Amino acid sequence: MPATTPMLEVNNLYVHYGGICALHQVSLHVDPSEIIAVIGANGAGKSTLMKTIAAVKDFTSGSIQFMGMPLKKDPYKVVMDGITLVPEGRRIFAPLSVRENLLLGAYTRSDRQEVAQTMEEVLELFPRLRERLHQRGGTLSGGEQQMLAVGRALMSRPKLLMLDEPSLGLAPIIIDTMFEAITRLNQQMGLTILLVEQNASLALELCHRAYVLKTGHITMEGNGRELLEDERVRSSYLGITGG
Ligand SMILES: Nc1ncnc2c1ncn2[C@@H]1O[C@H](COP(=O)(O)OP(=O)(O)OP(=O)(O)O)[C@@H](O)[C@H]1O
Ligand SMILES: [Mg+2]
Repeated sequence: MPATTPMLEVNNLYVHYGGICALHQVSLHVDPSEIIAVIGANGAGKSTLMKTIAAVKDFTSGSIQFMGMPLKKDPYKVVMDGITLVPEGRRIFAPLSVRENLLLGAYTRSDRQEVAQTMEEVLELFPRLRERLHQRGGTLSGGEQQMLAVGRALMSRPKLLMLDEPSLGLAPIIIDTMFEAITRLNQQMGLTILLVEQNASLALELCHRAYVLKTGHITMEGNGRELLEDERVRSSYLGITGG
């Protein structure tokens, strides 16, 4: 018997796009308060995995359990239950202000006072967003848009925050800010996080445990340190050979 029930448990998951199988027999679990990374190259199936757990994409077979219950097949209900995805490419609403974008993230919540409280927490986490509260989303820099995308996801008060390539296209200093914020959410608020990254070294340094996804298959798993030192990971995902 494991000491804790996993928050999220994915078992033997198969996902198809028409006749193409994008995920083959994928199994993984996320325990409460963990940061779990899934690393893999372009087209490995990382976004497909995120979308399937967010119920935006159907699965063919296998199972997904969240908090001991089968995942609902409705993206809105999945957010209500506590899973929120920050999608690849951020998907900010460009014509809307930062504040309006944040409020959209609270679309499943009705208590205005509590929503205002969460917005205050988000603005404390990302002070740059406070300075730009009335600026249009589309005029933010790439890094600010990523902060807004994460902030918007936090507005739903998730139990499990999923991040699809939070570092993509960002300058190193902004990546640091983003990963510090992710660490703080985990350490100070106990938020459980599942992230996928092509930037394997960053993800492996940050996470507690990780899975390697290769053409739709999980090929390795272990703690972040172990994988950082593994020869196969170093040569395939970190661009380091020998030594
Ligand atoms: N809507 C779709 N229709 C058909 N095939 C798709 C669709 N979306 C993804 N695929 C295919 O599924 C596979 C996995 O794609 P996915 O986007 O999940 O990969 P990824 O690991 O997120 O890649 P990247 O690092 O480029 O974001 C790819 O072969 C891709 O071509
Ligand atoms: Mg992707």
